[in-house]
Amino acid sequence: MNKRRALVLGGAGFVGSHLCDRLVAKGAEVYAMDNLHTGRLENIEHLRKHPRFSFIEHDVCEPFHLPVDRIYNLACPASPPHYQADPVKTTLTSVLGTLNALRLGIKCRARVLQASTSEVYGDPEVHPQPETYRGAVNPIGPRACYDEGKRCAESLMADFARAHGADIRIARIFNTYGPRMDPGDGRIVSNFIMQALRGEDLTIYGDGSQTRSFCYVDDLIDGIVALMEHPSFTQPVNLGNPEEFSVRELADLVRGLVDTTSSIVFCPLPEDDPKVRKPVTNRALELLGFEPKVPLREGLERTIAYFMTLPDARPRVVSARSLIDARRAKNGSSPTRAASGSGARSYKRALI
Ligand SMILES: NC(=O)c1ccc[n+]([C@@H]2O[C@H](COP(=O)([O-])OP(=O)(O)OC[C@H]3O[C@@H](n4cnc5c(N)ncnc54)[C@H](O)[C@@H]3O)[C@@H](O)[C@H]2O)c1
Repeated sequence: MNKRRALVLGGAGFVGSHLCDRLVAKGAEVYAMDNLHTGRLENIEHLRKHPRFSFIEHDVCEPFHLPVDRIYNLACPASPPHYQADPVKTTLTSVLGTLNALRLGIKCRARVLQASTSEVYGDPEVHPQPETYRGAVNPIGPRACYDEGKRCAESLMADFARAHGADIRIARIFNTYGPRMDPGDGRIVSNFIMQALRGEDLTIYGDGSQTRSFCYVDDLIDGIVALMEHPSFTQPVNLGNPEEFSVRELADLVRGLVDTTSSIVFCPLPEDDPKVRKPVTNRALELLGFEPKVPLREGLERTIAYFMTLPDARPRVVSARSLIDARRAKNGSSPTRAASGSGARSYKRALI
C-alpha cells in the first residue's frame, strides 16, 4: 500500500474524507477529486498541506486523467434529500462517473472500487440481505435515480471486467454514520442528533418499526480498504454492521445520549422507503476478516461530540423541496454548483 497513488472520487465527502485520511496514513499518495456538490472543503482541510495529498475540484461526469494505481469511486450524493433534489444529475453521476473511472482504470491499469449501496436491494423481500439477492427496486419511483444509478454502475463494472479485463471491486455499503456527516443533509442519524441537540422533537417517518443497521465510519473504511487490496475477488461484497435496530430504538438511544427535552413526532412514510435493512456479512468476514468493532452507542457518542463542535449550532434539517428552492435562489435555474476558487487546487484539463 505505501507506494500507491490513489484517486478518491468524492474525496471531500463524509466517507471519502475518512478514506483519504486512512490512505494518507498508510503512506499512499492521495488525490481527492470532488465537485463539492455535497462534500465540504472543511472535511479535508487538515490534509490540504500534507505533501502526499492533493485536492482536485472536478465533476466526475467529465473525463479525467491521472496516473494512479487505485481508483475509489465514491462520488455521488448519498442522502435522499440531496439525490432527489436533482435526480437526473444523480443518475448521470453514478453512470458517467463510473464509466470515466473505469476508462481511467483501463488506461492506467489501475484497480477500481465502486462504492455501491444496500439500496440496490430496494425494499427487500429477503431479510437479511445476502449479496446473491437481486433486489426489489421500483425503477420509476423517487429513489430510482440513486438505486438504479448504482445498479447500472455495478453493471458497468461487471461489463468492463468481462469485456475489457478491468480490475474491479464492488462494495455494497449499508447505512454508515460518524463525524463529518453533513448535519443538515436529512439522513436519519444526523437528523435525530441535530433535532435532539436543538431540543426539537425527533421526526420518525412511519411508525418507527422499520429497521436499519448502522455502521460506524471507521469500521466501513477498514472494509473498503481491505476489499480494494483483496488480490482477486470481483463480486459484490456487503459492508455494514449486521446489528439491526428499529428506527424507534435509534431515536430513543439518541434522546438518551443527548440531554434533551425532545419527544417524538410521527410523519407519513415516504414512497418506497425500505421496511427492513440488515446485511449478511459472511462474505466480508470470510474474505476480508471484516467485523465491525464500534458499538452503536459508542459511535453515536463520537458523532454527537463532533456535531457539538460545529460552529453553526443551528443547521437546518432539509427536505428535497427546500434544497431545490435554495439552489435555484443561489444559482438561477441550475442546481449544480459551479466550480469555485475557494482555495481548491484547480483541475488542469492538460492532465486528460
Ligand atoms: N454514508 C452511507 O451511509 C452510504 C451508504 C451506502 C452507500 N454510500 C456511498 O458512499 C459514497 C459516499 O457517500 P457519503 O455518505 O460520503 O456521501 P457524501 O454526499 O458526503 O459524499 C459524496 C461526495 O461525492 C461528491 N460528488 C457528488 N457528485 C459528484 C460529481 N458529479 N463529481 C464529483 N464529485 C461529486 C460530493 O460532493 C461528495 O463530496 C456514495 O457513493 C454513496 O452512494 C454511502
